[in-house]
Amino acid sequence: MSAPANLIDGRAIAEELNRATAADVAKLRQRGVEPCLVFVRVGEDPASQVYVGMKERVSARLGIRSTTHVLPAATREEELLALLARLNGDPAVHGILVQAPLPGHIRASRVYSTVLPGKDVDGFHPENVGKLMLGDTDGFVPCTPAGIHELLVRTGVRLAGAEVVVLGRGNIVGKPMAAILLQKAPHADATVTVCHSRTRHLAEHCRRADVLIAAMGVAEFVKADMVKPGAVVIDVGVNRVPDPAARGGFRLVGDVDFPHVQPVAGRITPNPGGVGPMTIAMLMRNTVRAARRATAS
Ligand code: GUN
Repeated sequence: MSAPANLIDGRAIAEELNRATAADVAKLRQRGVEPCLVFVRVGEDPASQVYVGMKERVSARLGIRSTTHVLPAATREEELLALLARLNGDPAVHGILVQAPLPGHIRASRVYSTVLPGKDVDGFHPENVGKLMLGDTDGFVPCTPAGIHELLVRTGVRLAGAEVVVLGRGNIVGKPMAAILLQKAPHADATVTVCHSRTRHLAEHCRRADVLIAAMGVAEFVKADMVKPGAVVIDVGVNRVPDPAARGGFRLVGDVDFPHVQPVAGRITPNPGGVGPMTIAMLMRNTVRAARRATAS
C-alpha cells in the first residue's frame, strides 16, 4: 500500500538540510576547522541512549567530530558542572549537548546555565532562551521547535494569522515553539494558544487550530474529533506503550492517534519519520554555526 498523500516527509526535508550542512562542514574543514560536538549523557535512560546514538551517527555522516561522555546516574551535580567547565574551556569543542532528562538530584537549570551560550547548541541557556523571547535571531534556538518551524515553512504552511495550538508547555518544545511562531517576523506572526494538563475545554481549543502541534507526551492523545478537517498536525510525541507481541515488549507511538487523525488532517507528520530527523538536522546546523562563529577571523 502506498503512503497517504498528505504526509509531511520529515526524513526527506531533514536530508535536504543535512546536505547543506555537510557542504558547510566541508568549507570549515578546508580552512582547518573540524567542527566538534560533545554529548553528555547521565545515567542509562534507554530512550536517551537511542537518541544520542542517532545524533552521533548523523554527526559522523556529515563530517562533524563527536565525543560522548557517559556518566553514572549517581554522578554529583558538581562533577557534571566541572566536566562542563572543562568543555567550555576547550577551544576544540564547538558544541555541547547534555541529554535530557537528567537524574532527579541534578538541577537542570544549573546545568543548562553552565554551558557557554556560544556552545549551547541546544538553545537551553537562559541567554539563548531570552534572545528567542526578544526576537533576537543571534542566539541558538532549541532544535525540536526549530525543526518543526522549518518543516512548516518548507511545506508551505501559511503561518501569518493562523491559529496554532501547541499541546504541552515544556521548556524543550512547547514554550520555545510558541515563542518562534509568535514572532513578528516573516514565516511566523501566528496566533498561538498553548494548552496543558490544566487547560479547560482542551478539545475545543484543538478544533479551532489550523496547525495543531502535539508535544505533551501522552500516547495517542489527539483523536480525530479534536482535529479540524484540513488542519496541519505535527506529532512530537515518542511514547512507549506495552505490546507483548513487539520486540522488547513495547512499541513506540506518538501523541496523535495517527490512523484515525490522518484521514481528517490536511497535512500530518508520520511518527517516526516526521519531527525526529528534523531535530537532529537542526542540531547539526547549530553545531556548524557554533564552529563558524568560534573560529571566525
Ligand atoms: N531530550 C529530549 N529532547 C532533547 C533535546 O532536544 N535536547 C536535549 N539535550 N535533550 C533532549
